Amino acid sequence: MGAGGVNPGRVRFSFDGTALEATRGMTIAGALLANGVMSWHRTGAGRPRGLFCGIGMCFDCLVDVGGRRAVRACLVPVREGDEVRTSAPRRAAE
Ligand code: FES
Repeated sequence: MGAGGVNPGRVRFSFDGTALEATRGMTIAGALLANGVMSWHRTGAGRPRGLFCGIGMCFDCLVDVGGRRAVRACLVPVREGDEVRTSAPRRAAE
């Protein structure tokens, strides 16, 4: 544990307003899965999506992070203070 009660090996972030923690260096997708969140995106038809390919190819794992929209959660490391939100569907229907 570091100064001020901060664990340097952990990051604190939120998902749809819920405070969560993860190991520093994890992707956003890994951090969500480690917290039991299995889906975090909905298609235009309302179907739940989360981690699928894990390599940035399928776009099933989109989240909004702060002011950034449609971030691929499987590629981007979670950072201290990130405000991760369910990403709005890209299309009205699939
Ligand atoms: S899981 Fe396929 S792009 Fe992220």
